[in-house]
Amino acid sequence: MKLIQWYPGHMHKTQRLIKENLKKVDVIIEILDARIPVSSSNPIIDDLTGDKPRLVVLNKSDLADAKVTELWKKYYLSLGENRLPVAVSSKTRDNLNAIIKGCKTLSVGAKWLERRPIRAMIVGIPNVGKSTVINALAGKKKAAVGNKPGVTKEMQRLNVSDSLQIYDTPGILWPKFEDQDIGFKLALLGSIKDTILVLDEISIRGLEYMVQKYPERIKERYNIEEFPNETIQLIEMIGKKRGCLVSGGGIDYEKAINLFLLDLRGGKLGTFSLELPGEERGFFSI
Ligand code: G4P
Repeated sequence: MKLIQWYPGHMHKTQRLIKENLKKVDVIIEILDARIPVSSSNPIIDDLTGDKPRLVVLNKSDLADAKVTELWKKYYLSLGENRLPVAVSSKTRDNLNAIIKGCKTLSVGAKWLERRPIRAMIVGIPNVGKSTVINALAGKKKAAVGNKPGVTKEMQRLNVSDSLQIYDTPGILWPKFEDQDIGFKLALLGSIKDTILVLDEISIRGLEYMVQKYPERIKERYNIEEFPNETIQLIEMIGKKRGCLVSGGGIDYEKAINLFLLDLRGGKLGTFSLELPGEERGFFSI
């Protein structure tokens, strides 16, 4: 199944933006979606930023399974000294201080630390919350939420605290489209809008994933006692219980699966994570 390419043509601009500004910063702040740290990253960042100290921000942790987020933190810690993970929620401003503290930890021992603030650049794929993080950190000196990729305007540094400055324009990476599993998880969470043709099928896989990993949530939300053998029967049960009917009384399957998708995205099914460290990928590929 073919995925539609998203934001074609911006890759080179972005690479240039990050490369040009790399020498002006001490720390890279990589923003990831805590529910899908692998799918919301792009390994090109390793090539682009090399050994530069990197704060790995597992953002949207208010939406992620806290136990799984802890596993991810351990995993990123195991990658080496110049990488430090922190879990935050920029929307609820939860644990934002960890970003400032983390940048300090990554700069310990640097000669310039006594003379000037730490300079950092925020990078990440669209929708992981880069602008929300910048706004939350910088307060009134706001960045525009929903910046488009490849923005080339002169970058301003914002004072976050006495000890930290960040660029107002994030380095926008592109998601990894070569891998269908990744594209589908991004689509399921609404991080790539209207770019994939098969949202119904992706939602069905999402339902199957939740039944496998978080069965009680599905049972509770849709008042289901026993799961049927087939997913289609489950969608039928959901549709029946939630009044997704077509004229004549049959089940409106599309409405029922869409209801599940809205519940999932809207946090009605509680916190969840779609990826575990070390796990074999491919569940979402169709
Ligand atoms: P970007 O710059 O990386 O593209 O992301 P941006 O800050 O625009 O955030 C993308 C969406 O993710 C926004 O939702 C934003 O509110 C949400 N978001 C960012 N950080 C968090 C977080 O820590 N927790 C939660 N729950 N959501 C977060 P939106 O629906 O597009 O906009 P809005 O209606 O919330 O303003």
